[in-house]
Amino acid sequence: MESPTTQANEEDQPSDGIGRPSPRPTWHLTPARNWMNDPNGLVHVDGVYHAFFQYNAGGEGWSDMSWGHAVSEDLLAWRELDVAIPATANEQAYSGSAVVDHGNTSGLGDGGTDPIVAVYTAATKDGLQAQSLAFSQDRGATWQRYDRNPVLDRGSREFRDPKVFRFEGADGHARWIMVVVEAVAHEVLVYSSDNLRDWTWESAFDHPTPLDEIWECPDLFPLPVDGDEADQRWVKLLSTHDHDRTDEQGSTMRWILGDFDGRRFTPAPGETWRLLDHGRDFYAGVTFSDAPDGRRLMLGWMSNWQYAHEAPTAPFRGAMSLVRELSLRTVVSDTGADARVELVQTPIVPEGLGLRSEDEGDDEGLVVGLAGVVSIESVGSARTVSVELCSGDDALATVTLDANAGEVVFERASAGVDAIDGRYASVRRMPWDGGLVEVFLDAHLVEVFACDGASVMSHQAFVGPDGWRVRVIGGAAADVTVAVPSDTE
Ligand code: FRU
Repeated sequence: MESPTTQANEEDQPSDGIGRPSPRPTWHLTPARNWMNDPNGLVHVDGVYHAFFQYNAGGEGWSDMSWGHAVSEDLLAWRELDVAIPATANEQAYSGSAVVDHGNTSGLGDGGTDPIVAVYTAATKDGLQAQSLAFSQDRGATWQRYDRNPVLDRGSREFRDPKVFRFEGADGHARWIMVVVEAVAHEVLVYSSDNLRDWTWESAFDHPTPLDEIWECPDLFPLPVDGDEADQRWVKLLSTHDHDRTDEQGSTMRWILGDFDGRRFTPAPGETWRLLDHGRDFYAGVTFSDAPDGRRLMLGWMSNWQYAHEAPTAPFRGAMSLVRELSLRTVVSDTGADARVELVQTPIVPEGLGLRSEDEGDDEGLVVGLAGVVSIESVGSARTVSVELCSGDDALATVTLDANAGEVVFERASAGVDAIDGRYASVRRMPWDGGLVEVFLDAHLVEVFACDGASVMSHQAFVGPDGWRVRVIGGAAADVTVAVPSDTE
């Protein structure tokens, strides 16, 4: 199959009359055609990153979930492969994870190379959700279902999104751990296994989130604080979604810091859930297994269940974020009080971007094109800089760095989108305590990173085929720089 990133945008036709088609991103994973949601089974094998994803092979709406499959060596250019785990007449393959089964603990290998084992949620016609296995004996190229599925069934209708990882206890006993949700009961359950086939219940975690949301797509992993390998903390990720509320959040992601002893996750004293991404369009983010050098790399779906079905792109609908490396950093306030450990996200970005100078701009603003990086570098005496992100004459969004208020504000207009949910237009804020604000633009995907990755927000804004222009409307143009890929300079 042709790589989605090499397809010409001109080929894309609006499929169903929902406004204009917004073009295809270049640095982000999108399917060549049809619907995509959550990343699944993220795993690094022999120098290749595999990303599977919730995929409808038959249309541009959510239905008949299979695991689509794409690979990349640099996490920026992706090549789509055949569907790995197809939906069947009786079963959809919902979200889950994949591990390299070093030493063939599952016995699903061929006796030679270690198998790659995917643990996914089998959502069956009878309305039940249980955990099942699929495996690859050729390093991720082809997949088959385990013939004794499911491997973990509690008769539940809301039991899904298993994330599996290897845990080595202080006693030297290494085993597999699964975190998985009871979505409506608001629980993250922990199970353990020696062979990925037989699972033992360990504990349930139900520390409440602020709203009455469903819980989905958990992850759990250790990270060193400030790079100190002797000071490891555990980070739990969770995606939450509220189907009914009329407010403007919908889908969001949270994280919480704590400890994990191989059976139970315990939040650190005083810890509570914090927002992982302050924008509207970052969901179902999970991390890669077996990433090189112990790196913790996260990928998320850049949409929101409130309006995901109305995104005016074609012939694909759904895109992943930039891959973000996660780390923990102690942030000390000016007074030296309130030292806090923050989860920091550092995006994997293209190299070799060339700076565009401000004198190339005119009243219409500075041309970025389909992809580029806008940086607010300083605030000058005005202490506030606003940048309008424009498509033709429409300002689709405004990013404001307000140094007095200590925040970055993202205002998204409904301009340019004909028929989309009324909750799409919105204002989002995130803390800022100094440093560069970087806005990564890639077709309709807008990711803003500030405070060296401690403040992040992600939004869709459906730019037209001519791409982006930026206009500095508050503050001085000299405070803002634009970098674009060298071949489009
Ligand atoms: C999250 C989610 C998961 C589920 C999948 C179905 O976006 O609802 O809980 O496994 O999508 O596509």
